[in-house]
Amino acid sequence: MKLLVTGGAGYIGGVVTRLLLDAGHEVVVLDDLRTGHREALAPEATFVEARIHDAARVLTPGAGFDGVLHFAALIAAGESMARPEIYWENNTIGSLALIDAARAAGVRRFVFSSTAAVYGNPTELPITESAVKAPTNTYGATKLAVDMALTSEAHAYDLAAVSLRYFNVAGAYLRPGHALGERHDPESHLIPIALQVAAGRREKLQLFGDDYPTADGTCVRDYIHVEDLARAHLLALDTAVPGEHRIFNLGNGNGFSNREVVEVVREVTGHPVPVEMAPRREGDPAALVASSARAHAELGWVPAKPTLAEMVGDAWTFYRDHLLP
Ligand SMILES: NC(=O)c1ccc[n+]([C@@H]2O[C@H](COP(=O)([O-])OP(=O)(O)OC[C@H]3O[C@@H](n4cnc5c(N)ncnc54)[C@H](O)[C@@H]3O)[C@@H](O)[C@H]2O)c1
Repeated sequence: MKLLVTGGAGYIGGVVTRLLLDAGHEVVVLDDLRTGHREALAPEATFVEARIHDAARVLTPGAGFDGVLHFAALIAAGESMARPEIYWENNTIGSLALIDAARAAGVRRFVFSSTAAVYGNPTELPITESAVKAPTNTYGATKLAVDMALTSEAHAYDLAAVSLRYFNVAGAYLRPGHALGERHDPESHLIPIALQVAAGRREKLQLFGDDYPTADGTCVRDYIHVEDLARAHLLALDTAVPGEHRIFNLGNGNGFSNREVVEVVREVTGHPVPVEMAPRREGDPAALVASSARAHAELGWVPAKPTLAEMVGDAWTFYRDHLLP
């Protein structure tokens, strides 16, 4: 297939681009590099430096695209509360422009990076796709709006649409000559921050809240290896059905507390990770654990690297070998 990957210079879009190329697809990456990295671009893919708002320049009716995989977004939940307007403008308005361009170009398949943040504070665990959607931050709301637009689009125009709702993504893609890992700046995710502390690049790690109703009082999250996540995109693309908007949660179904994550980082790196307790952050649910039963049953998706030790191990290898001076 000929595919447009938005956000292909970023962490997850970069890994999916590699897997698509390895599977023999033709890939055009569209990214404005606002948070992405030129070095992460696959040399075999065509790169267009542009905003998703201008996707119609690339997605022309004659260009022959079979599908769009849409990763481009701003992703920091905290920032989305402080500056909501840039999240609505980028994540929602930009995505609507991309969907318009895909429709005008006759693109038949669309796979979207949605998020566990659409569920907000879950009323039951594990979280299924039919759980109440009540985002507690603007980031999650901007993603839910796009999910809803895709439902309408699939029904009105026969698009084969898929939303994949990721839980916490971790790990790295490591092959000779190709290493892709997490590089957000500023970093807001627990594992890469803990690795920075282990490497002595940060003094300490702040954990927000130790009085949650969880086994050790810290928040519990579900982690998924980026390569397992990436494989689900290829399955979603292959099994997408015209006129349907299919939605899948992607996680391991295992929750790990923040303290457990820190312990694994200590074990894997062999370095101390000093921790400082800080007050709870507004809008942080106590526990987020996915039910991926639908993805297992309907996509035939099974994570190959479900353990935290594998995810932290790969993230550490990437960080140590590629980001440390
Ligand atoms: N990382 C996670 O744990 C996680 C969890 C749930 C969902 N997601 C979703 O996965 C997707 C990818 O996340 P990531 O961690 O790879 O983030 P990332 O910041 O590494 O990648 C995002 C990419 O999108 C590009 N981009 C942003 N806005 C753009 C625009 N308007 N036009 C063109 N390019 C633009 C950036 O330059 C960057 O290369 C996002 O949609 C995010 O919401 C990520």
